Amino acid sequence: MGEALRAEAGKAATALVEPGMRLGIGSGRTVQAFLAALAPRIQGGWRLAAACASVESAQAARRVGIEVLAEEEVGQLDLAIDGADLLTPQLDCLKGLGGALARERLVALGARRFVVIAEESKLRADLRGVRVPVEVLAFAHRDTAKRIAGLGMKPVLRISAQGAPCRTDNGNVIYDCASSPALLPQDLERALCATAGVVATGYFLGMAHEAILAGPEGVRRIARH
Ligand code: A5P
Repeated sequence: MGEALRAEAGKAATALVEPGMRLGIGSGRTVQAFLAALAPRIQGGWRLAAACASVESAQAARRVGIEVLAEEEVGQLDLAIDGADLLTPQLDCLKGLGGALARERLVALGARRFVVIAEESKLRADLRGVRVPVEVLAFAHRDTAKRIAGLGMKPVLRISAQGAPCRTDNGNVIYDCASSPALLPQDLERALCATAGVVATGYFLGMAHEAILAGPEGVRRIARH
């Protein structure tokens, strides 16, 4: 079911792509479905370039024939497409389960239009009390975790299946941080961003322009007002 819905959302997003565009490509399974749905157009002669938010996404983009832009600069992008772990009807998103949050943010910020593609079941009334992934510099990360705990959060270092701390494409670690529902994501985001050692959070608040959601009843779009 999940795979079919991700395919539907990915396919629907291809309608927003035009030949010659500079795309932002996020990461995750729904983005992979988007790239797969885009492949026939590229085989048909469309030229597309993209800034990619993860090494895996860059490899997938190259495989379907998209020119991957150099990492030094995202520049101005026409359209960024990315998944989300959770999102609200106001299009505030929670991201980072796949560990690509810092680059995803930079790619989304570079785009004139940022569209989130996801299964409808990821919709939540709000993001309060939800564990947020926080990318933290590996250097002195335990000190940073103490500072995060001082904000009223409970940071837990993300560990890989092999038993070592997960490393992002940037060589950083991730803490999944629980908080009380009494604390507002906007306030936590501000406090986390002001904390030394924090690179980026998974709160993507007020960033998405539109969401394409696939559910059992079909695909629907939500625009930010
Ligand atoms: C990666 O760090 C995340 O932000 C992904 O965008 C998010 O986890 C969505 O992934 P799926 O499309 O695989 O659910």
